[in-house]
Amino acid sequence: MNVIEVKNLSKTFSHGIKAVDSVTFNVEKGEIFGFLGPNGAGKTTTINMLCTLLKSTSGDGKICGYDIASQHNQVRECIGLVFQDMTLDDQLTARENLELHARLYGVPDRKKRIDQVLEIVELRDRENSIVKTFSGGMQRRLEIARGLIHYPKVLFLDEPTLGLDPQTRKHVWDYIVKLKKEYGMTIFLTTHYMEEADELCDRIAVIDHGKIIALDTSKKLKDSLGGDTIILDLNDRDVAKALKIFKDAKRFDGQIILSVKNAGKQIEEVLEKCRKNKIEVVEANIRKPTLNDVFLKLTGREIREETVGLKEQLKRGEGFRMRGHGR
Ligand SMILES: Nc1ncnc2c1ncn2[C@@H]1O[C@H](COP(=O)(O)OP(=O)(O)OP(=O)(O)O)[C@@H](O)[C@H]1O
Ligand SMILES: [Mg+2]
Repeated sequence: MNVIEVKNLSKTFSHGIKAVDSVTFNVEKGEIFGFLGPNGAGKTTTINMLCTLLKSTSGDGKICGYDIASQHNQVRECIGLVFQDMTLDDQLTARENLELHARLYGVPDRKKRIDQVLEIVELRDRENSIVKTFSGGMQRRLEIARGLIHYPKVLFLDEPTLGLDPQTRKHVWDYIVKLKKEYGMTIFLTTHYMEEADELCDRIAVIDHGKIIALDTSKKLKDSLGGDTIILDLNDRDVAKALKIFKDAKRFDGQIILSVKNAGKQIEEVLEKCRKNKIEVVEANIRKPTLNDVFLKLTGREIREETVGLKEQLKRGEGFRMRGHGR
């Protein structure tokens, strides 16, 4: 069953910017669906339309079968929303924040439900602390708890881990997975962290300039690039020789870059060839394609805001390192 159905949804703002440009996708019950894209790609605008906070310019959307344009109340009852920016009252305690929200939604048996959601995000022991004293990660967890208070069927999370350190980010990921596994919740999240989409999402839509440019499982998106990369760090004097032996190799500084089908299987073969030809390999790295490569291939640029040197880029990701025979 599709919990979210979106067809040709678009938003053009008054100054003519097409923030969302005819996006189409469905999200099944119990799926974690990721919207991955750089700053300004149109992620928040899409969420705002789906959550009935913003009127679309054209196209259709349905949440749990309800129309986002004409059935605002029904849609709002189905959804929980965690905004990109902090929206808690930091002068109130955790429990008071939840109390306020539960009243707003007319949640029955409020005390029990608040206990439950605090339990889910493991904040029971801090329920009476003022939110101002919470760490970023705790605030985020409290916001997730608040988004859950009225038993939504779908939870929208707009950049759930923005600005959190890697460890806290991982902690928030655990809650998101728990919501799917234990409560069968459907989750729509936006992010510009590739590893987040990769780790969490059953399917990922890559969005850029308001358009979905790819949509599939992370594995299929990466597989579509067809193959791995082997990177050999060589002594400069051996580079020319290596280029003769590995005909399709590319050169980058003192490195030789080989595109292969399965690096795990082929690396030994490559190193053996180097040994035979007396090419000194200082270090060999394997790199599997990342979502960044998918984005790079589709758009010709990086998803990250800051540019990263090719050398660092090549070493990033799921690669592992092997010492060559040179040392
Ligand atoms: N209320 C608005 N009025 C005019 N333009 C807007 C408005 N909201 C968003 N935009 C523009 O729409 C585009 C998409 O913005 P949006 O906030 O959806 O991007 P995003 O993918 O969520 O980015 P980020 O990763 O920075 O949160 C941007 O060019 C933005 O400037
Ligand atoms: Mg945003």
